[in-house]
Amino acid sequence: MNKRKILVTSALPYANGSIHLGHLVEYIQTDIWVRFQKMCSPEGDGHEIYFVCADDTHGTPIMLRAEKEGITPEALIDRVHSEHLRDFTDFHIEFDNYYTTHSPETRQYSEDIYSKLKAADPSLIGTQCIEQFYDSVKNIFLPDRFIKGECPKCSAKDQYGDNCEICGAAYAPTDLIKPYSTVSNAALVMRTSEHFFFKLSDNRCISFLRHWTREENHLQPEAANKMREWLGESEQSNLSDWDISRDAPYFGFEIPNASGKYFYVWLDAPIGYMGSFKNLCNQRNINFDEFWKKGSTTELYHFIGKDILYFHALFWPAMLENSGYRTPTKIFSHGFLTINGEKMSKSRGTFITAENYLKQGLDPEYLRYYYAAKLNGTMEDIDLNFDDFTARVNSDLVGKYINIASRVAGFLVNYFNYRVTDISGLVIQSDSLQGPEQFKTGGARLIDELLENADLIHTHMENRRYNLAISTIMALTGKVNEYWNQQKPWDKAKQLDDEQQKLSLHLVSSITIECFRILTIFLKPILPKLAQNAESFLNVEPLQWKDLSKTLLPGHQIKAYKHLMTRIDRKKIDAMIEASK
Ligand code: MSP
Ligand code: ZN
Repeated sequence: MNKRKILVTSALPYANGSIHLGHLVEYIQTDIWVRFQKMCSPEGDGHEIYFVCADDTHGTPIMLRAEKEGITPEALIDRVHSEHLRDFTDFHIEFDNYYTTHSPETRQYSEDIYSKLKAADPSLIGTQCIEQFYDSVKNIFLPDRFIKGECPKCSAKDQYGDNCEICGAAYAPTDLIKPYSTVSNAALVMRTSEHFFFKLSDNRCISFLRHWTREENHLQPEAANKMREWLGESEQSNLSDWDISRDAPYFGFEIPNASGKYFYVWLDAPIGYMGSFKNLCNQRNINFDEFWKKGSTTELYHFIGKDILYFHALFWPAMLENSGYRTPTKIFSHGFLTINGEKMSKSRGTFITAENYLKQGLDPEYLRYYYAAKLNGTMEDIDLNFDDFTARVNSDLVGKYINIASRVAGFLVNYFNYRVTDISGLVIQSDSLQGPEQFKTGGARLIDELLENADLIHTHMENRRYNLAISTIMALTGKVNEYWNQQKPWDKAKQLDDEQQKLSLHLVSSITIECFRILTIFLKPILPKLAQNAESFLNVEPLQWKDLSKTLLPGHQIKAYKHLMTRIDRKKIDAMIEASK
């Protein structure tokens, strides 16, 4: 296996909202994968892998929000940036760079890509005049979400421009009767303006995308099928050109040589991946071109939610392909979070922010563990059920895994001066062995069984089937507990005068603590903080995947056991829901 060069991204969260438990599905999923890759490589020092992200800072909603708060958009995005970074750090999400799209780097690549698309022959940028709702009090064109009016079907008042909450009718904002601006309450008028378009319907884009979306597993099968619907099979595709400009006033990058026209936020948002990486390259002397120029042999992975697949699987590769850059190796798209089987909702108290979760004193690693136990690498939605959450964390993570350390520690500490004994020479000789030999045999089998599963766990992690990794690890954890129980160490401890009993107690404890070490390696990408505390308890250097081929050496001294994790207190969950209402 060669040392891989990998660049990984998570989607860039909007700079006008707080990080919530739904977002965290994505950032935790990505962080686990990156940490796993960083732990792995035959040489042991990890693949060369970078994880970048940024705030997505442009657009009308951010501009209006800043205005409402009486601050500049720059001040708003600075504040939100530090809040987002604080939340991510608290959940142990470790970016190599967490940047902003409002940056010179992102501007530079936006202009570069735009100018290359424009310079294509024939040009891939065109113009069209379009009609849009205009708020003549605020003097801005309004995105649909700021438009309300009467339902064209049932005349219900104050309905949004896509569907009626009263009769359920679906329609376009232009169908609304008496449309008005939710920003100024002014009646809206239609106004014409010239917009720039990326010619996605051009055959250069369509034929490229037909191949790209189907080949080399760039997309998961469900995502590739969605693309098939959008791209069509025949000459005719369902894709239309993409509107990439917005008129002033707009918070974003002004388009070169087009005064008063700005890049639409979704044009520069994915370019923010490049901007954030470029900023990292400057800090660490990494070769940007090696990762981004056409022909690059490095790997590029985008983790995203299914709602933004369209942008990442169509616009983005088409833009890159036609401007001299490489396209993504794979796009990993995940489903949406539901809580107790329903959409997150403020009134039910299930619109839970990262901050509100932590405020109750809930351990972030409970959530990392639970999400890992549910994530299966597909686009299916995942449900956070609080009963299931409590049960799994308490009975599996604390009751099985943590339990091993807390049960064994005392024996090694009290009777063996914190030291483990030699387990390196354990070989299975005969089932009829008696005395300490018998314990060696069972223990050797157990350690072998754990190690035999390492490749399988590795494959599940690589494939983002963390749920299967967790079920494999937990089955093994169960076996370690079984072994411990069968050996009845507490009985042996009563017969310490008997040299053989004492020896066997030492062996059983050493074998079990070794199993705990192995399980900690498996769980480390998912539970980084817990693993770090386990490393201090075990008194070992930061564990890497390659440490599976080592064991604790005879005479190695562990440290006194301190609580690694406590059970979930259900009252904290109820308090969190109350606080989120
Ligand atoms: N700003 C865009 C992404 C630009 S990427 C170049 C955006 N931001 S977002 O804040 O709305 O969402 C950020 C990520 O979180 C997206 O991948 C989105 O799918 C994901 N999630 C947001 N809410 C979610 C759930 N409730 N459940 C799971 N993922 C969710 O989209
Ligand atoms: Zn209606």
